[in-house]
Amino acid sequence: LSSNGPEQRNHWQIDSEQVFVIGGANIDTTGVARSRIIAGESSPGTILKTYGGVARNIAETLSRLDVPTSFAGVFGDDRNGENMLEHLLGAGVNTHRLTPANYSSGHSRSTPEFVSIVTSTGESVAQVADMSLLDESCEEMIAHLAPLIEKARMVVIDANLAEPVLAAIFDMNITAPIFADAVSPAKCRRLSPWLRSVYLLKANEAEAAALTGMPRNTRAYSDQLLKKLVRLGPKRVLLSKGANGAQLWDGEQRFDAPSPETRPLNLNGCGDSLLAGVIAASLRNYPAAVQLSWGQQLAARASEVHGTVNPAININELEALVRG
Ligand SMILES: Nc1ncnc2c1ncn2[C@@H]1O[C@H](COP(=O)(O)OP(=O)(O)OP(=O)(O)O)[C@@H](O)[C@H]1O
Ligand SMILES: [Mg+2]
Repeated sequence: LSSNGPEQRNHWQIDSEQVFVIGGANIDTTGVARSRIIAGESSPGTILKTYGGVARNIAETLSRLDVPTSFAGVFGDDRNGENMLEHLLGAGVNTHRLTPANYSSGHSRSTPEFVSIVTSTGESVAQVADMSLLDESCEEMIAHLAPLIEKARMVVIDANLAEPVLAAIFDMNITAPIFADAVSPAKCRRLSPWLRSVYLLKANEAEAAALTGMPRNTRAYSDQLLKKLVRLGPKRVLLSKGANGAQLWDGEQRFDAPSPETRPLNLNGCGDSLLAGVIAASLRNYPAAVQLSWGQQLAARASEVHGTVNPAININELEALVRG
């Protein structure tokens, strides 16, 4: 894990058009098996450490697309935390370090970590997240950032945030659209009380099922899921279905995009790229179909690398999609 110092960019100093992203930042450890995984047996492969966390991934992606981006998240008081902070600054993200209440009283200070096992075709088969540092989060931690968050053009949050922090954010005087990522079936219900104030909700099928309580065997499952999610209150809904494409409900109409055929190395974080693409195209006032195509393009680019964000992405390749 190293920072990418030389590329240091300072575009975030223009703060009038910022996207403010708040949520999870963690170290991803990924074990990529070289051949078929057999339960209970050791599989030869590669073990990689990269930077992850839904909100962090989105912030880095937006900044790499030249969007002036701020990020606020909890970093541990350790080497991992310092490296991750440096990496974000190197990618041009204006980063704010949030400090949990018990930080100085001997509680957990390790940077949150996420471990996953990935097959040789990039599919994740098991995941464990240790985000105990985030559980100590409190309302006061974010309050001082209210003036900056309230000034942003768009706000992005994820369900890694503890309930008191989410409550504090939705209590702010935010007039900009709020984009929210559901993160996981276990965490997504934290967003439930706030969905009427959410502009766009991003969920995968498992998270959508957890939010709506809809059983899997329903007919036309994903269409039903999308309708049920819309009924929970967000103006717009982005539903991802892995290899089976993504759907965007824009408040009036549904748009569908197939998932590009790729030879993925690691599919973790592709959903974050999908959402980042929709946000970037929204900022440029492109229509919903373009938003979805930018999202799917970035997801495909993210799948090509072991890390969650592909450092090779740039705004020109997305603009080329608009020109056809
Ligand atoms: N097996 C796959 N083959 C091709 N593309 C995929 C596959 N899985 C995911 N993708 C791409 O990634 C996008 C998001 O996928 P997915 O539904 O897995 O999101 P997610 O579960 O939120 O992912 P994460 O939370 O790991 O970022 C899809 O719309 C698609 O473009
Ligand atoms: Mg996701």
